[in-house]
Formats: sequence, structure tokens, C-alpha cells
Amino acid sequence: MSIESVPIDDLEQLPTPHVRIDLSIARANIERVAQYGAEHGLAIRPHTKTHKSLVMAQLQSRAGAIGLTVAKVGELEALVDATDDWLIAYPILDPARSRRAARLAHERTIRVGVDSIEAIDAVAAAACQEGTTLGILVDLDVGHHRTGVASPAAALRLARHVSTTHGVRFDGLMCFPGHLVPSNGDMAEGVRAYDAVLGEAIERLVGDGLPPPIVSGGSTPTFRYSHLAEHLTEIRPGTSIYNDRNTLLWGEAELSQCAARVVATVVSTAVAGKAVIDAGSKTLAADLCGADPSAGFGQVLAMGDRRAEGEESELQGVRISRLTEEHGELEIPPELPVPPLGSRVEILPNHICPCINLHDRVVLVEAPGKARWMPIDARGRLS
Ligand SMILES: Cc1ncc(COP(=O)(O)O)c(C=O)c1O
Repeated sequence: MSIESVPIDDLEQLPTPHVRIDLSIARANIERVAQYGAEHGLAIRPHTKTHKSLVMAQLQSRAGAIGLTVAKVGELEALVDATDDWLIAYPILDPARSRRAARLAHERTIRVGVDSIEAIDAVAAAACQEGTTLGILVDLDVGHHRTGVASPAAALRLARHVSTTHGVRFDGLMCFPGHLVPSNGDMAEGVRAYDAVLGEAIERLVGDGLPPPIVSGGSTPTFRYSHLAEHLTEIRPGTSIYNDRNTLLWGEAELSQCAARVVATVVSTAVAGKAVIDAGSKTLAADLCGADPSAGFGQVLAMGDRRAEGEESELQGVRISRLTEEHGELEIPPELPVPPLGSRVEILPNHICPCINLHDRVVLVEAPGKARWMPIDARGRLS
């Protein structure tokens, strides 16, 4: 489906709930990251899991991204036309997925982040069957403790294995510093600490004749500190294209840099002190705010004719206190009138990535009063 073919005539009459993306904010966010990379000599390889959209992936490529990142092969298949250079930052292990990745390498550079001999052998076997070569980035754990080999010595062992295995090519290292968020400590210190781990691994690799051409790291909370990690060659911010309430509360974005809103409608006020909206966990996603788990399920920015004042304010204490699948419960403080049935409510989602993945399409607002539907091309492509 071409998004150009589906303009929206009257944004205000559009049924709710839906997600709106402000294109000019998204563009500015893309540009902000691109400029940072250019200033500091760091390549940008945005993670597309946030937007899952061909349109946005193409904007990122046009802004100078060296390539793009996905977690799953299905996402890559859906967005494949956006660039010739892809990183699957996820340990592919099964033969079927490895084969699909290897097939894509006929026409594009495809790299995979892995942390086991088994994963290397799986993708190598698939590449040999397909007659292609897959690039390998050895995933090194720098403190997030999710994936990644535990030590520089283990990274060297995997790199050696890659270098002697047919069908794969050692292209370097990757890491994900997901533990580094402003609420957990000093960001500059954290980034320097993870860079020291990378430095140790690189020293071993160089000593073994395997210098890593690529050292890939980064995330949205760490992105503007990445120049402090002198060993990185590229970073992979994802959330930064839209930002969300987490990035806002962490102080890593202003409200004016948050591109996404969920628009909902008050559908029930029967229970005293509450307004229930038509956006529950199937619209907003059920993630609490990492930056402040007590802050409810999204930030209410506007409700009927009331709008939050100032950059970061909540709407006078209105809190989304509970979600069920199709209901969001707004606690209305006693000093505020309960909004009339049918009132529109505008919400900044806590975590935009799972929220987007719940929607087949979102409203792309190109200018005041000018909008069109944008498909979420890689939505639900989880394998
Ligand atoms: C491997 C990897 N790289 C990059 C990112 C991007 O992180 P963020 O959304 O914080 O920018 C993620 C996020 O989950 C990730 O898992």
C-alpha cells in the first residue's frame, strides 16, 4: 500500500484510538542524530524497531545513515528497500531464519550480531547453502547482561572461530549499553566504562591479527555521550526518531522533540473520579515508565479543552492509573471537572516502540491540517 494514496480529509473527525506522528519533529530528530554523527565522526545505523516503517527508514537513509538495524529477519524483509547495508542485531540461531538472512545477502550487505559458536555455525551453514557470505559482529556484554559474550577473551574466541569458518566474515564487535540510563547513574562515566571493555577486546583482537573494522554500540539514552566512547565506529539509536515519555523524563528530549501521540476518546465517566478512554494496553502498550514506574501508563497532555501548560507538565495531576485491553482509566483529581463523554484525550506514550508495533498504520501529520495514513510495514514481523 502506498501511503500517498491514503490522505486524511478531516483529522479531527478521525475515529479513535490512533497514533499520530508529527513528521517535522521526526525529521528534526533524524537530523539531530545525523548531525551528531557528522560532528563526531561516528557512523549512524538507526535501529528501525521503533518506527517499523519504510518511509521513516528511507528518511534515515537519506539523512546519511550508513545502514540500518533490525532485530528480526522479518523486519529486514519488510524494510529491505531502505538501504543496502543491514545489521541484524540479534542472535539468529535457527536454520530457517539463517537461510532467509543468507538469501538477502545476494544483493545486500547483511551482518548478524552473535554471541555463540552455535549461532556462527548456523548462519555460516545457511550462507554456504545459499552461496553468500554474512558479516559477523561479535556481541560483547558491556553491562546490560542480556546477550553478549561475558569477556574480551570470549569475544576473541568467537572472532577466531568466524575467521576460520566458511560463509561468514569477521566484521567487528557490537554491544548494547541498555543498562545506561540517566536514572541509573552518571552517563559519561558509564559510557567511558563500557568503552574500556571494548578497548580491552580490541587490543586482544588486534594482537591476534583480527582488528575489528566495525565497533557498533549506542542507544537513545547514550547517543549524545557516544563520542566519549572513542572505540565506537557507529551507534544504533532507535527511540530517538520519535522519543517518548521515558526519554522526556530522563531529560534526553524535550516535549517539543516527542513526535508521537496517542489520541483517544472518553467513553465512560460512570465511576466517580474516573474518565475511561478507548485506549488500553492494545493501543498504548502496557509498559510502565522506566524513568518513573509510579507515573502511570502514559502522560496526558490534553483532555477536552484542557491542555498541559509548559514543556514537561502533566495535565494537572491526571494520571492513567490502570489499563485493561481496551480501557484506559484516567484518575481525575477532585479539583478538576470530569471531562464530558466524547472528549478527546492526547497522550504521550511511555515507551513508543511497543506502542507502534500494536498499530497497522499511524497518522502522519505533515503540516497543520494535512495528514495521511502511514503503514507500519514491519509491524508484527517477529520472526
Ligand atoms: C541491540 C539494540 N541496539 C539498539 C537499540 C536501540 O535502543 P534505543 O531504542 O534506546 O535507541 C536496541 C533497543 O532495544 C537494541 O536492542
